[in-house]
Amino acid sequence: MPGNSFGQFFKITTWGESHGKALGVIIDGCPAGIKLNEKDIQIELDKRKPGQSRFTTPRKEPDKIEILSGMFKGKTTGTPISMLIMNIDAISKSYSNFKDIYRPGHADLSYDEKYGIRDYRGGGRSSNRETVARVAAGAVAKKVLNSFKIKTIGFVAQIGDIKCSKFVEKYIEKNPLRISDKSKYNEMTALIDSVRKEGDSVGGVIEVRSTGVPAGLGSPVFEKIDAKLASAIMSIGGVRGFEIGTGFSIVEKKGSEVNDIILGKNGSKIKFKSNNAGGILGGITNGNTIVLRLALKPTSSISKEQESIDSLGKKKKLKVTGRHDPCLCPRAVPIAEAMVNLVLLDCIMENQLSNIKKISI
Ligand SMILES: Cc1cc2nc3c(=O)[nH]c(=O)nc-3n(C[C@H](O)[C@H](O)[C@H](O)COP(=O)(O)O)c2cc1C
Repeated sequence: MPGNSFGQFFKITTWGESHGKALGVIIDGCPAGIKLNEKDIQIELDKRKPGQSRFTTPRKEPDKIEILSGMFKGKTTGTPISMLIMNIDAISKSYSNFKDIYRPGHADLSYDEKYGIRDYRGGGRSSNRETVARVAAGAVAKKVLNSFKIKTIGFVAQIGDIKCSKFVEKYIEKNPLRISDKSKYNEMTALIDSVRKEGDSVGGVIEVRSTGVPAGLGSPVFEKIDAKLASAIMSIGGVRGFEIGTGFSIVEKKGSEVNDIILGKNGSKIKFKSNNAGGILGGITNGNTIVLRLALKPTSSISKEQESIDSLGKKKKLKVTGRHDPCLCPRAVPIAEAMVNLVLLDCIMENQLSNIKKISI
């Protein structure tokens, strides 16, 4: 099953299942000499880990990172970095009563159709648990990007039909929903609580912004940075939509309203009047902030009774037991940030090869 590696230059390969012994990632291509320790990675994993609040799955996983290789005296050596996260709190018996019944909205049926064998425990590899390894790799990429003063921040911009109307960066990590607007907190928590009580779930939108990104990242025509970001984001389970800058609503506007006027250039700093392009033109960054959004569906595993079929095609009713996120958004923020950081670093490394002026030997 190829498809578990991502990136060309900063290349990651993730492995492991939701209820397997452990999960992990190998990074091939990390530059040497980067100061790195477990704490740098643990901070990001703690943002993603389950059991953070009543708005996330109650599964209790410490998600403690162990770096197995690629480091010497607190620095990366340029050799493969291998990282391990153990599974501690898997309760597989919650899944046994529907092991042959396909959960509507989940990947059970499609995995069975493709492979004819499926690890039903926690959804196996189709579980979001797999993303713990991506977040670990993203934390290493983030560390490298710090030296370029590139900063990526994600937040929950919408839950159900309730939208944030303010962006207060320091509020994001102060609330368990990771929303950017305090005035919407009570309304949003009430919505999640009410769907959870009904045995249901709710979706939402995450926005990710990357500042300090230089102009010139991304390669036309098939390695456009917006194409790479779309691929990175759409690879996260539960993502149903992706947009850059003004996104889909741009169709309601006129060209004169959405063209970002270039105000001036001072060395490598380019100033625009607006940012409808979300920092990308022609598949190449233009020096403006990268702004992208992802739409996440309501969690498919719900305890409300639903109709389905079993592997023999017999009609069945099921209530999905086990521990699930009533809303995917809060925990998906660090995952989206990690995927964006992986793309940005990969593009920076690609530029070292594509622009002879920038190569230093
Ligand atoms: C942070 C996060 C948490 C998730 N938690 C759950 C969950 O508890 N239960 C579930 O059924 N799906 C969960 N998902 C979604 C599934 O992984 C996803 O729906 C499944 O892999 C099928 O893929 P698709 O929805 O992209 O088609 C989660 C996704 C993310 C990003």
